[in-house]
Amino acid sequence: MAPGTVEPVTSSELWTRATADRYDADEAESSSAAALGPTLAFLAELAGDGRALEFAVGTGRVGIPLRERGVPVVGIELSEHMAAVLRRKIDENMLPVVIGDMATTVVPGEFTLVYLVYNTITNLLTQDEQVECFRNAARHLTPGGRFVIELGVPPLRFLPPGQVAVPFDVSDRHLGFDTFDLVEQLLVSHHLTRDGEDGRYRRGSSQHRYAWPAELDLMARIAGLERERRVADWDGSPFTQDSTKHISVWRKPA
Ligand SMILES: C[S@@+](CC[C@H](N)C(=O)[O-])C[C@H]1O[C@@H](n2cnc3c(N)ncnc32)[C@H](O)[C@@H]1O
Repeated sequence: MAPGTVEPVTSSELWTRATADRYDADEAESSSAAALGPTLAFLAELAGDGRALEFAVGTGRVGIPLRERGVPVVGIELSEHMAAVLRRKIDENMLPVVIGDMATTVVPGEFTLVYLVYNTITNLLTQDEQVECFRNAARHLTPGGRFVIELGVPPLRFLPPGQVAVPFDVSDRHLGFDTFDLVEQLLVSHHLTRDGEDGRYRRGSSQHRYAWPAELDLMARIAGLERERRVADWDGSPFTQDSTKHISVWRKPA
């Protein structure tokens, strides 16, 4: 952050240099062309001939290939360490990034698409900030423009009374589980990740405020957006009561 710049005020945890430097390796699978193909097609179609703004652009897992597809992309990112990794991969004039909080940071110009993927709305730990994030998306949209969120459905159906944790990944390299504070609507994601071949596991955790699809619709309405579409995944499959995640699209009225 430049000298004299005011640190953004947000409840979000600040992603560290160590996390940033590991992110691309940890996310190699979700960054592959095969994994990202449907995401990029979905977002490029909504951007049309306009520009896209990615909230929490991170190291550019989605923003860089979307830019390479011909969509002009601007990013907002809280962690200068994540943005520094992005910058090693793409020039400022190809993909500008503003360091700041996605709930409040305003960038110049208008966008046909604002998007926030990979469960990242949950990094804002209060309902007020999540509402502000919707308002900020609406502020940047052209009339008729879309705000897209990718988010897991809170897995509370897997949490019977007395159980404290819900596993979300049990694989050779990674053990992941969530623990819940049902009163405050918060969860902690715990990760044990195998580093190298010596059998050691690295422990990490992150805090999140989970939110229901209907709650997001209300946030959108508060921000003056209308729900246009909700699907279960980037391939457009139908959202059902058994869906574990959703891609939701809200539109700024023309
Ligand atoms: C799971 S990563 C997603 C990064 C990227 N969008 C992707 O799909 O790979 C979450 C990112 O959100 C950023 N972040 C968390 N809170 C934020 C906030 N309030 N404003 C902007 N970025 C935030 C983190 O620094 C991190 O880069």
